[in-house]
Amino acid sequence: MTTPRMGIMAAMPQELQAVLDLMPDEHRETLAGRTFWPGHLAGQDVVAVVSGIGKVAAATTATLLIERFGVDCVLFTGVAGGLGPGVAVGDVVVATQLLQHDMDASPLFPRHEVPGYGRSRFDTDPHWRQRLTDAATAALAQIEHHLGAKAVADFGLAHAKVHNGTVISGDRFVATRAESDALRQQLPDALAVEMEGAAVAQVCHDFGVPFAAVRTISDRADDSAHVDFGRFVADVAARYSAQVVMTALQQPSTA
Ligand code: ADE
Repeated sequence: MTTPRMGIMAAMPQELQAVLDLMPDEHRETLAGRTFWPGHLAGQDVVAVVSGIGKVAAATTATLLIERFGVDCVLFTGVAGGLGPGVAVGDVVVATQLLQHDMDASPLFPRHEVPGYGRSRFDTDPHWRQRLTDAATAALAQIEHHLGAKAVADFGLAHAKVHNGTVISGDRFVATRAESDALRQQLPDALAVEMEGAAVAQVCHDFGVPFAAVRTISDRADDSAHVDFGRFVADVAARYSAQVVMTALQQPSTA
């Protein structure tokens, strides 16, 4: 059995750097203004890449990973704003399905439906979703070891949890309580909001490539989101992501 070639995406360099630090043999290839890093992680053939922020940047990057780099599966890692009632800063959300909250071709199509697809939601791959969930659970069980006692105390991460559920994406950093309340009202099952995942899910659906996404909650998508976000990305998110992705790749494959 040949092992799959995995694409690993993050929106920002800070979110990918710790993954790159764990790759012993990566080399750089530049395409369409992006730097792709083919190499190995936990013994697996991977291509890591910073997509840039937003749905278009993410969709272009995912297409290149699949068409030019021949990846068999795409994993997205990074941070998100918490929307669900029990989804706190430091928790991890593994997406079961993703939706574009800013897609609105009504009255031609129902709100949130992607025209031409007959659906608003794209499912993640159950196998990789489970591996990310197991990896995130293991990482949280050893959180002090990965982040140090100070970061755990400063960010109140001692009781961080893993959630599975709906993640919503849009070309907007959600930074007011009014906006996050409106999203909660429209999409009550949404656990977290970010700016790329649903676009990548759609591209992977088009190409028949499995996709899974894991997001660490950096803020509550409210009026203090921009402050919490900056601190969290710098101090916590990168190390978390790297640990979760590496552990997910290491687990024995049952595929
Ligand atoms: N990523 C992290 N926090 C976010 C927020 N509040 N809105 C959109 N994307 C995010």
